[in-house]
Amino acid sequence: MVNLGESSENGDGGEAAGQRWSAEGYARNARFVADLGMPVVELLAPRLGERVLDLGCGDGSLSVRIAALGPEVLGTDASPELLGAARGRGLQTVLADAHALPFEREFDAIFSNAALHWMLEPEKVIAGVARALVPGGRFVGEMGGFANVATIATALRAGLQREGVDGMAIHPWYFPTPQEYGGLLRAGGFSVTSIELIPRPTPLPTGMEGWLETFAAPFLAHVPGERHADLLDHAVALMRPSLCDRAGNWVADYVRLRFSATLDPATG
Ligand code: BEZ
Repeated sequence: MVNLGESSENGDGGEAAGQRWSAEGYARNARFVADLGMPVVELLAPRLGERVLDLGCGDGSLSVRIAALGPEVLGTDASPELLGAARGRGLQTVLADAHALPFEREFDAIFSNAALHWMLEPEKVIAGVARALVPGGRFVGEMGGFANVATIATALRAGLQREGVDGMAIHPWYFPTPQEYGGLLRAGGFSVTSIELIPRPTPLPTGMEGWLETFAAPFLAHVPGERHADLLDHAVALMRPSLCDRAGNWVADYVRLRFSATLDPATG
């Protein structure tokens, strides 16, 4: 039976629908997110003297690794709890909705890892990033790309269907193709230096149970709490043949969209 964690309640405070973040649960079940983010930091190539915004910085574990390379880093996120953990690491933070970023020509670069797929109106996010950057500034990031966690999401939708809820109507995440996101960046005034989909099957240190504890809340929010355990058990049974090996090791079917773009000097 799948255990239900503290993140499965309805969200508030401007966080993504149904998602409520627990810094402790995130550290336990999703530490790999920051650990696997270093190639994106390398793509950013931060420099001493630069000012960098980490958009969707979460608990700041990757932001402090960027800061260690020289730039001044500000972290922003919609979760007060995760920002509290980020400040605990010594990071400067601002609580903000990424769809309405409150910055004007302040940053040499904006970085984002594993956060943009929670932001369901990407045009607004890109417009705010463009306003926040100096002309020629860099926007470098990685997010879930097209077909990311397709097996997991399909199993959760099937679980909802079984509960009489239209699972096909639930889209808590935005996983674009390179063509789509590249088009949005160009329309927002950026030149795209690189953009690619990277399939990255990702071992889950705390199994599928841990992943669901931290990330399934947007689906669970549509059924009463007493049905959550059954729904999750059914979903896990559906995923198991595809995502769990014979030794019991779970792998999430992650696909990353990684990009680097530069704000056209005339934009703004
Ligand atoms: C991701 O990093 O790809 C991801 C994390 C949680 C939910 C969905 C996607």
